[in-house]
Amino acid sequence: MLELRDIVVRYGPVVAVDRVSIRVEEQQVVALLGANGAGKTTVLKAISGLLPCASGDIAWGGGVISKLPPHRIVRAGICQVPEGREVFAGLSVYDNLRLGAYLRRNRHAVRSDIDRMYEYFPVLAERRDQAAGTLSGGEQQMLVIARALMSSPAMLLLDEPSLGLAPLVVQQVFSILRRICDDMRLSVLLVEQDAETALSIASYAYVLEAGRVVVEGSSVAMQGDESLRRSYLGY
Ligand SMILES: Nc1ncnc2c1ncn2[C@@H]1O[C@H](COP(=O)(O)OP(=O)(O)OP(=O)(O)O)[C@@H](O)[C@H]1O
Ligand SMILES: [Mg+2]
Repeated sequence: MLELRDIVVRYGPVVAVDRVSIRVEEQQVVALLGANGAGKTTVLKAISGLLPCASGDIAWGGGVISKLPPHRIVRAGICQVPEGREVFAGLSVYDNLRLGAYLRRNRHAVRSDIDRMYEYFPVLAERRDQAAGTLSGGEQQMLVIARALMSSPAMLLLDEPSLGLAPLVVQQVFSILRRICDDMRLSVLLVEQDAETALSIASYAYVLEAGRVVVEGSSVAMQGDESLRRSYLGY
């Protein structure tokens, strides 16, 4: 289980995340929703060890990880997919996937995981020798997710995977993701502005506003509460 306990994250004097507490159980998909500037990416960066917590702490798998450097957090099984689909543009799809497994020693397992990614994302198999920079936006999003999965994580932190993608492609990416979560026993913290889509895959959600959690609850409850949806989720 991942547990953020009252974390505060600052950029100099500016408090970007203010006493946020979030839990993600094993194999659970949790959505972190909120408008531009709400603090969503900052929360993910704090979990990944890219930003320090000014106070509060982050627990994972029975230990506190909030003082660990980023590579130790990756080794502990938490992998962040950053905003903006950063593939290694000049490298092939295959090499991008292989690089996702750079911490792993078992070459046989890596090879079979690459094949597994090709099964989940057949379009990546078709384009395995193509330079990643020539993929479409949706294909690049699939590639960064697949590359993150190649590190064999227990927890995936996804930052706005739907951004800039056509609704149909978003549905496709999310439904593959749902399957992968079940198969790989993965936990996911999913950051999204597209609340409607995020709630369709998550079982629980938090809404951030100006660095604070203003609402939390099960996806079913949020989907069923029209005034909450209108006030906080924009749909
Ligand atoms: N490096 C930085 N230095 C100073 N302030 C920052 C920095 N990065 C982010 N902020 C501020 O912290 C707040 C939260 O930013 P954050 O990127 O976490 O928001 P977000 O919810 O991810 O927004 P978006 O949906 O636009 O990606 C914003 O007010 C932002 O301006
Ligand atoms: Mg962001």
